[in-house]
Amino acid sequence: MNTPRASGASILLTGIAELTTNDPERGGSDLLARVRDAAVVVEGDRIAWTGPAAHAPDADERVDLGGRAVLPGWVDSHSHLVFAGDRTSEFEARMAGQPYAAGGIVTTVTATRAASDEELRAGLRKHVAEALAQGTTTLETKTGYGLTPAEELRAARLAGEFVEEVTWLGAHVVAPGADPGDYLAELLGPQLDAVRGHVRWADVFCETGAFDEDASRAVLLAARDAGLGLRVHGNQLTPGPGVRLACELGAASVDHVNHLTDADVDALAGSATVATVLPACDISTRQPLAPARRLLDAGATVAIASNCNPGSSWTSSVAFCVATAVLQMGLTVAEAVHAATAGGAAALRRTDVGRVVVGARADLHVLDAPSVTHLAYRPGVPLTHAVWRAGAPVRGLSRGAQVPTRG
Ligand code: NIG
Repeated sequence: MNTPRASGASILLTGIAELTTNDPERGGSDLLARVRDAAVVVEGDRIAWTGPAAHAPDADERVDLGGRAVLPGWVDSHSHLVFAGDRTSEFEARMAGQPYAAGGIVTTVTATRAASDEELRAGLRKHVAEALAQGTTTLETKTGYGLTPAEELRAARLAGEFVEEVTWLGAHVVAPGADPGDYLAELLGPQLDAVRGHVRWADVFCETGAFDEDASRAVLLAARDAGLGLRVHGNQLTPGPGVRLACELGAASVDHVNHLTDADVDALAGSATVATVLPACDISTRQPLAPARRLLDAGATVAIASNCNPGSSWTSSVAFCVATAVLQMGLTVAEAVHAATAGGAAALRRTDVGRVVVGARADLHVLDAPSVTHLAYRPGVPLTHAVWRAGAPVRGLSRGAQVPTRG
């Protein structure tokens, strides 16, 4: 997702029927802090001005968006894109009644280890481009299908060529054939040493069949000592200690959160740890949907992410996740859009993305619809009309283009 930096010229975008800013300074009761009949000025790679079109300043260039909605690019804070191979048959078996279990990850580990760097790069290039074309302008991705120091380092390096947020997930499952105690020692020593200069985050799959509380805590503490930010896969397949541990250790996010006790919900509501829900994964694994409504009502910060990976959630469509959160998890459209933009940014501890405010990176998602409501009102319809990342058009409109008004 390394798009060319835009020139320093300013550009005025008009014809915006509805602009979602997520600007906490704008006030009012609208979570998305929307502006109707809006305009945006982009200068270089940043937002320079937003407001009602009637008050817009001049700029070097002008683009009329023809009555469309504009929102921040999606901030997809959970994916696993460094992989090879395919798990179609596992999916088919699941749809025929087999349960999803952590062990399926090993299938992808075997295929990933056998793949060349070029094969893994080709997959990353394809999947990152696919996400970007659908409006995802910030993407996190994890290692976790290598599970040796050399393979995890390879995955981290390759991921860093394509995405800006890279997470070490050596603690995904115990490496095939390894003794659990020996593998934990490898994680805490050689594996962490190998990846630490190449990743921002460390993640642990704290779950039956993966890592228990003690092992998860040991990995997270070692990673924190090494200067990495923390993330946790928690409470996905069973109730367990993941959420509690994430909150206790100050993780930026705990992801999945399907099986929560009242104490887990209270812990999330009382902490800065974001609860990241993964609606496409819940459906694809036939898990109970994460209780996003309950979490929001309790006061927790919620993010929505794709969890794009070949096993549990083979989709890069954040729009699908947003529609599912609205139609099946009981969120309003505003809550779901906020969770997939500003919520994702909070889960990555970022303030420069996920909002269209002065000084933010100019990441814009133009819908072929007059409002974000259409994301759930027209589920499954590809509504992305244009995407700008860091002030540069990456899909749809080039600078200076004129587009027909929506008919
Ligand atoms: O987030 N839960 C653990 N890891 C991934 C699944 C990876 C896989 O099945 O390959 C997840 O769902």
